[in-house]
Amino acid sequence: MNRSVTKAVFPVAGMGTRFLPATKSIPKEILTLVDRPLIQYAIDEARAAGITEFIFVTSRGKSALEDYFDVAPELEMKLEQDGKASLLEVLRSTNMESGQIAYMRQHQPLGLGHAVWCARRLIGDEPFAVILPDDVIAGEVPCLQQMVEAYAETGGNMVAAMEVPQDKVSAYGVLDVAEDKGAVVKVQGMVEKPKPADAPSRLAVIGRYILTPNVLENLGRQRAGAGGEIQLTDAIAEEIIASGDVHGFRFRGQRFDCGSKAGFLQATLSFGLDRPELRDDLLEFIEDVVAARRAAQ
Ligand code: UTP
Repeated sequence: MNRSVTKAVFPVAGMGTRFLPATKSIPKEILTLVDRPLIQYAIDEARAAGITEFIFVTSRGKSALEDYFDVAPELEMKLEQDGKASLLEVLRSTNMESGQIAYMRQHQPLGLGHAVWCARRLIGDEPFAVILPDDVIAGEVPCLQQMVEAYAETGGNMVAAMEVPQDKVSAYGVLDVAEDKGAVVKVQGMVEKPKPADAPSRLAVIGRYILTPNVLENLGRQRAGAGGEIQLTDAIAEEIIASGDVHGFRFRGQRFDCGSKAGFLQATLSFGLDRPELRDDLLEFIEDVVAARRAAQ
Protein backbone atom coordinates (compact mmCIF):
# COMPACT_ATOMS: atom_id res chain seq x y z
CA MET A 1 0.00 0.00 0.00
CA ASN A 2 1.42 3.35 -1.12
CA ARG A 3 1.95 5.66 1.86
CA SER A 4 3.65 8.55 0.12
CA VAL A 5 1.46 11.65 -0.13
CA THR A 6 2.26 14.08 -2.95
CA LYS A 7 -1.15 15.56 -3.81
CA ALA A 8 -3.19 17.97 -1.73
CA VAL A 9 -6.72 19.19 -2.31
CA PHE A 10 -7.68 22.68 -1.13
CA PRO A 11 -11.47 23.00 -1.06
CA VAL A 12 -12.08 26.74 -1.41
CA ALA A 13 -15.50 26.78 -3.06
CA GLY A 14 -17.47 27.79 0.06
CA MET A 15 -19.29 31.11 0.10
CA GLY A 16 -17.63 32.47 3.24
CA THR A 17 -20.84 34.07 4.46
CA ARG A 18 -19.45 34.73 7.95
CA PHE A 19 -17.15 37.34 6.42
CA LEU A 20 -19.77 39.27 4.46
CA PRO A 21 -19.63 41.91 3.14
CA ALA A 22 -15.86 41.41 2.56
CA THR A 23 -16.43 38.06 0.84
CA LYS A 24 -18.89 39.63 -1.58
CA SER A 25 -15.91 40.33 -3.83
CA ILE A 26 -12.85 38.80 -2.08
CA PRO A 27 -12.46 35.05 -1.56
CA LYS A 28 -12.14 34.25 2.15
CA GLU A 29 -8.80 32.55 1.44
CA ILE A 30 -7.32 35.86 0.24
CA LEU A 31 -8.02 37.54 3.60
CA THR A 32 -4.68 38.34 5.11
CA LEU A 33 -2.94 37.54 8.38
CA VAL A 34 -0.39 40.35 8.73
CA ASP A 35 0.78 40.30 5.09
CA ARG A 36 0.16 36.78 3.83
CA PRO A 37 -3.21 35.55 2.62
CA LEU A 38 -4.66 32.47 4.32
CA ILE A 39 -4.03 30.41 1.20
CA GLN A 40 -0.29 31.12 1.37
CA TYR A 41 -0.06 29.61 4.86
CA ALA A 42 -1.81 26.50 3.55
CA ILE A 43 0.48 26.19 0.53
CA ASP A 44 3.60 26.66 2.68
CA GLU A 45 2.40 23.94 5.05
CA ALA A 46 1.71 21.57 2.15
CA ARG A 47 5.13 22.19 0.62
CA ALA A 48 6.84 21.49 3.95
CA ALA A 49 5.03 18.14 4.01
CA GLY A 50 6.41 17.17 0.59
CA ILE A 51 3.32 17.97 -1.48
CA THR A 52 4.15 18.64 -5.14
CA GLU A 53 0.68 18.76 -6.73
CA PHE A 54 -1.81 21.34 -5.51
CA ILE A 55 -5.47 20.92 -6.46
CA PHE A 56 -7.87 23.78 -5.81
CA VAL A 57 -11.60 23.22 -5.83
CA THR A 58 -12.99 26.66 -6.59
CA SER A 59 -16.29 28.29 -7.49
CA ARG A 60 -17.67 31.43 -9.09
CA GLY A 61 -16.07 34.64 -7.82
CA LYS A 62 -12.73 33.06 -6.83
CA SER A 63 -10.60 34.33 -9.71
CA ALA A 64 -8.50 36.46 -7.32
CA LEU A 65 -7.19 33.17 -5.93
CA GLU A 66 -6.06 31.94 -9.34
CA ASP A 67 -4.44 35.30 -10.10
CA TYR A 68 -2.59 35.20 -6.78
CA PHE A 69 -0.47 32.26 -7.95
CA ASP A 70 0.46 33.82 -11.28
CA VAL A 71 3.99 35.14 -11.69
CA ALA A 72 4.03 38.97 -11.53
CA PRO A 73 6.88 39.94 -13.92
CA GLU A 74 6.30 43.74 -13.77
CA LEU A 75 6.36 43.68 -9.99
CA GLU A 76 9.48 41.50 -9.93
CA MET A 77 11.25 43.78 -12.42
CA LYS A 78 10.39 46.90 -10.40
CA LEU A 79 11.65 45.39 -7.14
CA GLU A 80 14.82 44.23 -8.91
CA GLN A 81 15.43 47.71 -10.36
CA ASP A 82 14.85 49.29 -6.95
CA GLY A 83 17.27 46.84 -5.32
CA LYS A 84 14.60 45.53 -2.95
CA ALA A 85 16.07 42.06 -2.66
CA SER A 86 14.21 40.85 0.43
CA LEU A 87 10.81 41.90 -0.93
CA LEU A 88 11.68 40.21 -4.21
CA GLU A 89 12.43 37.03 -2.31
CA VAL A 90 9.07 37.25 -0.50
CA LEU A 91 7.28 37.74 -3.81
CA ARG A 92 9.08 34.87 -5.53
CA SER A 93 8.34 32.52 -2.63
CA THR A 94 4.68 32.68 -3.74
CA ASN A 95 5.38 31.54 -7.31
CA MET A 96 4.19 28.09 -8.31
CA GLU A 97 5.86 25.99 -10.98
CA SER A 98 3.85 25.56 -14.16
CA GLY A 99 1.77 22.39 -13.99
CA GLN A 100 2.04 22.10 -10.20
CA ILE A 101 -1.30 23.69 -9.57
CA ALA A 102 -4.71 22.68 -10.94
CA TYR A 103 -8.14 24.23 -10.54
CA MET A 104 -11.38 22.28 -10.53
CA ARG A 105 -14.73 23.97 -10.33
CA GLN A 106 -17.45 22.92 -7.87
CA HIS A 107 -20.55 24.04 -9.76
CA GLN A 108 -22.90 23.93 -6.78
CA PRO A 109 -22.08 24.41 -3.08
CA LEU A 110 -23.21 20.95 -2.02
CA GLY A 111 -20.78 20.64 0.86
CA LEU A 112 -17.15 19.94 1.72
CA GLY A 113 -17.45 16.23 0.83
CA HIS A 114 -18.82 17.11 -2.58
CA ALA A 115 -16.00 19.64 -3.14
CA VAL A 116 -13.36 16.95 -2.46
CA TRP A 117 -15.21 14.50 -4.74
CA CYS A 118 -15.06 17.09 -7.56
CA ALA A 119 -11.26 16.58 -7.57
CA ARG A 120 -11.44 12.77 -7.94
CA ARG A 121 -10.01 12.58 -11.48
CA LEU A 122 -7.03 14.73 -10.55
CA ILE A 123 -6.37 12.65 -7.44
CA GLY A 124 -6.49 9.24 -9.13
CA ASP A 125 -5.67 6.08 -7.21
CA GLU A 126 -3.37 7.21 -4.41
CA PRO A 127 -3.59 8.63 -0.89
CA PHE A 128 -4.06 12.40 -0.84
CA ALA A 129 -4.13 15.24 1.67
CA VAL A 130 -6.97 17.71 2.19
CA ILE A 131 -6.22 21.12 3.70
CA LEU A 132 -8.90 23.60 4.72
CA PRO A 133 -7.08 26.93 4.50
CA ASP A 134 -9.32 28.62 7.06
CA ASP A 135 -7.86 26.37 9.74
CA VAL A 136 -4.46 27.95 10.28
CA ILE A 137 -2.08 26.00 12.51
CA ALA A 138 1.01 27.54 14.04
CA GLY A 139 3.62 25.08 15.21
CA GLU A 140 7.30 24.30 15.19
CA VAL A 141 6.74 21.41 12.78
CA PRO A 142 3.93 22.20 10.30
CA CYS A 143 0.82 20.12 11.02
CA LEU A 144 0.62 18.25 7.71
CA GLN A 145 4.29 17.32 7.97
CA GLN A 146 3.62 15.77 11.39
CA MET A 147 0.72 13.86 9.88
CA VAL A 148 2.66 12.62 6.84
CA GLU A 149 5.34 11.30 9.21
CA ALA A 150 2.76 9.51 11.36
CA TYR A 151 0.95 8.27 8.25
CA ALA A 152 4.08 6.47 7.07
CA GLU A 153 3.53 4.21 10.12
CA THR A 154 -0.27 3.89 10.09
CA GLY A 155 -1.44 4.11 6.46
CA GLY A 156 -5.23 4.07 6.03
CA ASN A 157 -7.07 7.33 6.66
CA MET A 158 -5.98 10.01 9.09
CA VAL A 159 -7.73 13.13 10.40
CA ALA A 160 -6.18 15.91 12.46
CA ALA A 161 -7.82 16.12 15.87
CA MET A 162 -7.78 18.35 18.93
CA GLU A 163 -9.51 18.43 22.28
CA VAL A 164 -12.25 21.10 22.42
CA PRO A 165 -14.45 22.18 25.37
CA GLN A 166 -17.63 20.09 25.78
CA ASP A 167 -19.90 23.04 24.93
CA LYS A 168 -18.10 23.55 21.59
CA VAL A 169 -18.34 19.99 20.22
CA SER A 170 -21.43 20.72 18.14
CA ALA A 171 -19.34 22.87 15.80
CA TYR A 172 -17.18 19.88 14.77
CA GLY A 173 -16.99 16.30 13.62
CA VAL A 174 -16.21 14.35 16.80
CA LEU A 175 -14.25 11.10 17.17
CA ASP A 176 -15.37 7.97 18.96
CA VAL A 177 -12.04 6.56 20.17
CA ALA A 178 -11.37 2.80 20.13
CA GLU A 179 -7.74 2.95 21.24
CA ASP A 180 -5.75 5.94 22.47
CA LYS A 181 -2.07 5.59 21.63
CA GLY A 182 -1.12 9.18 22.50
CA ALA A 183 -0.59 11.22 19.35
CA VAL A 184 -2.38 8.61 17.25
CA VAL A 185 -5.85 7.35 18.18
CA LYS A 186 -7.71 4.52 16.49
CA VAL A 187 -11.23 5.57 15.65
CA GLN A 188 -14.40 3.47 15.88
CA GLY A 189 -16.91 6.16 14.97
CA MET A 190 -17.29 9.78 13.87
CA VAL A 191 -20.28 12.03 14.47
CA GLU A 192 -20.78 15.30 12.59
CA LYS A 193 -21.88 18.21 14.80
CA PRO A 194 -23.29 16.23 17.77
CA LYS A 195 -25.20 17.82 20.65
CA PRO A 196 -22.80 18.07 23.63
CA ALA A 197 -24.71 15.33 25.48
CA ASP A 198 -24.42 12.93 22.50
CA ALA A 199 -20.75 13.55 21.72
CA PRO A 200 -18.63 10.38 21.99
CA SER A 201 -15.58 12.43 23.11
CA ARG A 202 -14.19 15.96 23.07
CA LEU A 203 -11.75 15.06 20.31
CA ALA A 204 -12.76 17.18 17.33
CA VAL A 205 -11.71 16.84 13.70
CA ILE A 206 -10.12 19.92 12.19
CA GLY A 207 -9.16 20.80 8.65
CA ARG A 208 -6.29 18.45 7.77
CA TYR A 209 -6.82 14.96 6.39
CA ILE A 210 -4.89 12.19 4.64
CA LEU A 211 -7.35 9.97 2.81
CA THR A 212 -7.46 6.90 0.63
CA PRO A 213 -9.23 6.83 -2.75
CA ASN A 214 -11.95 4.65 -1.12
CA VAL A 215 -13.26 7.83 0.51
CA LEU A 216 -13.83 9.26 -2.97
CA GLU A 217 -15.89 6.20 -3.85
CA ASN A 218 -17.97 6.69 -0.72
CA LEU A 219 -18.46 10.35 -1.62
CA GLY A 220 -19.58 9.28 -5.10
CA ARG A 221 -22.76 7.87 -3.58
CA GLN A 222 -23.69 11.51 -2.92
CA ARG A 223 -25.57 10.97 0.31
CA ALA A 224 -26.54 14.22 2.02
CA GLY A 225 -25.74 14.36 5.75
CA ALA A 226 -25.90 17.04 8.47
CA GLY A 227 -27.24 20.36 7.17
CA GLY A 228 -28.29 18.69 3.90
CA GLU A 229 -24.65 18.83 2.71
CA ILE A 230 -22.48 15.99 1.41
CA GLN A 231 -20.18 15.60 4.41
CA LEU A 232 -16.57 14.49 4.22
CA THR A 233 -16.87 13.12 7.77
CA ASP A 234 -19.62 10.69 6.70
CA ALA A 235 -17.50 9.33 3.84
CA ILE A 236 -14.54 8.82 6.21
CA ALA A 237 -16.82 7.21 8.82
CA GLU A 238 -17.90 4.65 6.17
CA GLU A 239 -14.25 3.57 6.00
CA ILE A 240 -14.32 2.70 9.70
CA ILE A 241 -16.87 0.03 8.90
CA ALA A 242 -15.35 -1.01 5.55
CA SER A 243 -11.67 -1.21 6.53
CA GLY A 244 -11.40 -0.26 10.22
CA ASP A 245 -8.51 1.90 9.16
CA VAL A 246 -9.19 5.42 10.39
CA HIS A 247 -6.92 7.28 12.79
CA GLY A 248 -7.09 10.59 14.57
CA PHE A 249 -3.86 12.51 15.00
CA ARG A 250 -3.30 14.90 17.88
CA PHE A 251 -1.01 17.47 16.27
CA ARG A 252 1.40 19.71 18.14
CA GLY A 253 0.61 23.36 17.54
CA GLN A 254 -2.00 26.06 17.95
CA ARG A 255 -4.98 26.06 15.64
CA PHE A 256 -6.87 29.21 14.72
CA ASP A 257 -10.35 28.99 13.23
CA CYS A 258 -9.90 31.73 10.64
CA GLY A 259 -13.32 30.92 9.18
CA SER A 260 -14.74 32.78 12.21
CA LYS A 261 -14.18 36.44 12.98
CA ALA A 262 -12.95 35.78 16.53
CA GLY A 263 -10.45 33.16 15.35
CA PHE A 264 -9.24 35.38 12.54
CA LEU A 265 -8.61 38.31 14.91
CA GLN A 266 -6.80 36.05 17.39
CA ALA A 267 -4.58 34.72 14.58
CA THR A 268 -3.85 38.26 13.40
CA LEU A 269 -2.69 39.25 16.89
CA SER A 270 -0.71 36.09 17.43
CA PHE A 271 1.06 36.18 14.06
CA GLY A 272 1.70 39.92 14.49
CA LEU A 273 3.29 39.30 17.88
CA ASP A 274 5.51 36.64 16.29
CA ARG A 275 7.03 39.25 13.98
CA PRO A 276 10.06 40.88 15.65
CA GLU A 277 9.52 44.14 13.71
CA LEU A 278 5.92 44.46 14.95
CA ARG A 279 6.03 42.87 18.37
CA ASP A 280 6.94 45.78 20.63
CA ASP A 281 4.54 48.33 19.11
CA LEU A 282 1.72 45.83 19.01
CA LEU A 283 2.26 44.67 22.58
CA GLU A 284 2.30 48.24 23.84
CA PHE A 285 -0.90 49.00 21.94
CA ILE A 286 -2.65 45.88 23.31
CA GLU A 287 -1.60 46.72 26.88
CA ASP A 288 -2.86 50.30 26.50
CA VAL A 289 -6.18 49.17 25.04
CA VAL A 290 -6.71 46.57 27.76
CA ALA A 291 -5.83 49.08 30.51
CA ALA A 292 -8.19 51.68 29.04
CA ARG A 293 -11.06 49.16 28.71
CA ARG A 294 -10.51 47.94 32.29
CA ALA A 295 -10.47 51.51 33.61
CA ALA A 296 -13.74 52.26 31.80
CA GLN A 297 -15.54 49.25 33.35
P1 UTP B 1 -17.29 26.34 5.79
O1 UTP B 1 -18.19 25.47 6.56
O2 UTP B 1 -16.34 27.20 6.54
O3 UTP B 1 -18.18 27.23 4.83
O4 UTP B 1 -16.50 25.41 4.78
P2 UTP B 1 -17.78 28.53 4.03
O5 UTP B 1 -18.74 28.71 2.91
O6 UTP B 1 -16.33 28.50 3.62
O7 UTP B 1 -17.94 29.71 5.09
P3 UTP B 1 -19.25 30.27 5.86
O8 UTP B 1 -19.63 29.22 6.88
O9 UTP B 1 -20.32 30.54 4.84
O10 UTP B 1 -18.75 31.54 6.48
C1 UTP B 1 -15.37 24.65 5.18
C2 UTP B 1 -14.47 24.45 3.97
O11 UTP B 1 -15.15 23.72 2.94
C3 UTP B 1 -15.15 24.44 1.72
C4 UTP B 1 -14.95 25.89 2.12
O12 UTP B 1 -14.39 26.64 1.06
C5 UTP B 1 -14.02 25.77 3.33
O13 UTP B 1 -12.68 25.62 2.93
N1 UTP B 1 -16.43 24.17 1.03
C6 UTP B 1 -17.60 24.16 1.73
C7 UTP B 1 -16.43 23.91 -0.32
O14 UTP B 1 -15.36 23.94 -1.00
N2 UTP B 1 -17.62 23.64 -0.95
C8 UTP B 1 -18.80 23.62 -0.28
O15 UTP B 1 -19.85 23.34 -0.90
C9 UTP B 1 -18.78 23.89 1.11
